[in-house]
Amino acid sequence: MSISRSIERIIPATRTVEGGGFVVYRPFPTRLLMDFDPFLLLDEMGPTDYAPGEAKGAPDHPHRGFETVTYMLEGEFGHKDSAGHSGTLRAGDVQWMTAGAGVVHSEMPAEEFTSRGGRVHGLQLWVNLPQRDKMIAPHYQEIPSTQIPVATSEDGKVSVKVIAGEALGVKAAIETRTPILYQHFSLAPGGKVELPVPRDYRVFAYPLSGTALYGPQSQPVRAQQMVIFRHDSDTIALAAGEEPVELLLIGGVPLKEPVVRYGPFVMNTEDEIRQAVTDYQAGRMGAISH
Ligand code: FE2
Repeated sequence: MSISRSIERIIPATRTVEGGGFVVYRPFPTRLLMDFDPFLLLDEMGPTDYAPGEAKGAPDHPHRGFETVTYMLEGEFGHKDSAGHSGTLRAGDVQWMTAGAGVVHSEMPAEEFTSRGGRVHGLQLWVNLPQRDKMIAPHYQEIPSTQIPVATSEDGKVSVKVIAGEALGVKAAIETRTPILYQHFSLAPGGKVELPVPRDYRVFAYPLSGTALYGPQSQPVRAQQMVIFRHDSDTIALAAGEEPVELLLIGGVPLKEPVVRYGPFVMNTEDEIRQAVTDYQAGRMGAISH
């Protein structure tokens, strides 16, 4: 086998406690890393245990110029938007929202879930759109847990949910605007895998639980630390030691375009940001009817 990609950098996620005890682990953007082209943000929400009536979310807010990808691990989230679209995300479900020219949405714990309380654990990834796609019509891809393709290694020690891209010969159901991979690996003790990844992809791993072993030196890295790989090989090696491991492998081909961000708007120029603010304030991204 070839020598797999080596580790370039390890970035610990910043732990933030938001209002109501909502814990977020954020590997980027932080002072250490502003973005990871083509990705703009990764938040691990929780795990947080809510008493009945306590669960918190994000009320009405806009987005323009990128995609938000929500992946629930535990708990339930309801969403609603200015185009009249609404639904509930349950454990294992993925919502890939292409905000494009603009949408106003809310992301709140489902009502029934809030009244009974429980654990919330999920991820949100922001995927930048290339300049040519920033103003496309907003749309969703909603994939329930049961429709996310799963691949398993021959020895049964490695399984992967293929949210985007391809792994172990299995292709994702979701279509992306630029080449993206987003995969959730579960490794049993002693499990290992070497994956082909095209050299033009920038790739990182984000361990959710357990200490995984990475790269040609099998370097151990514990959970809540982002592992960035170099572009020095066409494969990536992941392994578990004596404990089971859950981790995300995320990558994409960099856009190499200017990024101007202002809160929920991510464009290529300051002028486009001013236009986004004007359009939002004038109601041109719509509003949610309550
Ligand atoms: Fe949002």
